[in-house]
Amino acid sequence: MKRFEGKVVVVTGSAHGIGFTIAERFAQEGALVIISDIAEDAVQQASKKLQEQGFKADGFVINVTDSSQVEATFKEIIAKHQRIDVLINNAGITKDTLIMRMKETDWDAVINVNLKGTFICTQKVSRYMLNQRAGSIINIASVIGIMGNIGQSNYAASKAGIIGLTKSTAKEFASRNIRANAVAPGFIETEMTAQLSAEVVENYAKAIPLQKMGKPVDVANACIFLASDEAQYITGQTIQVDGGLIMS
Ligand code: NAI
Repeated sequence: MKRFEGKVVVVTGSAHGIGFTIAERFAQEGALVIISDIAEDAVQQASKKLQEQGFKADGFVINVTDSSQVEATFKEIIAKHQRIDVLINNAGITKDTLIMRMKETDWDAVINVNLKGTFICTQKVSRYMLNQRAGSIINIASVIGIMGNIGQSNYAASKAGIIGLTKSTAKEFASRNIRANAVAPGFIETEMTAQLSAEVVENYAKAIPLQKMGKPVDVANACIFLASDEAQYITGQTIQVDGGLIMS
């Protein structure tokens, strides 16, 4: 029997990128995965892609910043699939620029999606997990939230906030057997980084002890471990998936 057979796993922002790979990995482990993202057509395409591989998948439009929509959609998921065992808060955006030039709207947008969106989804899923007396919440942070970065003050603040939110979530829900952990990826190869020149990638890689960029599946594998029973005694932690880039 596969590790996540019979489990329902919701991944936000999973129509593309790392979120899609996380959903795919849980599907490979037998889970019914819920693809959720802001655009209906992308949600349908991504869930169809998994179904065509013979995996169990369903799709729902979720804008993580819209709390009443998140609440209604989680209710719909429960009505259709009875439970939510794992929530991966992956939806995230960047609006990079130096502090001196940053518009308040760019600050607010990033904090809203990355941090408030993670809070909203956590709050709305918690009533079901509290009833189940079981659940695992995994928040996708970033090494930038730990070390900061020039031109990414809004993003760094949102990701540092996610790490604090993860610890509070872990403490509030531990007595009901709900665990909360974060994964902080470093430089991961995605469509975005595929546009960088070989020289830029090489320069990044030089700063990484393992001398290479990570892959979305490296992030997904950390999520699989944290959500599994093998991690049953782990909560409130942040696992860095960064090739050793930062070590504390
Ligand atoms: P991506 O841009 O490919 O995927 C993000 C997904 O979130 C997209 O499908 C997008 O439609 C969705 N999204 C955006 N706003 C949303 C909203 N309001 N509600 C629901 N969904 C929304 O980005 P990527 O690279 O796959 O990143 C995924 C996560 O990993 C993000 O949280 C990002 O901050 C984090 N991360 C990525 C790293 C990288 O190297 N790519 C490094 C560290 C962290």
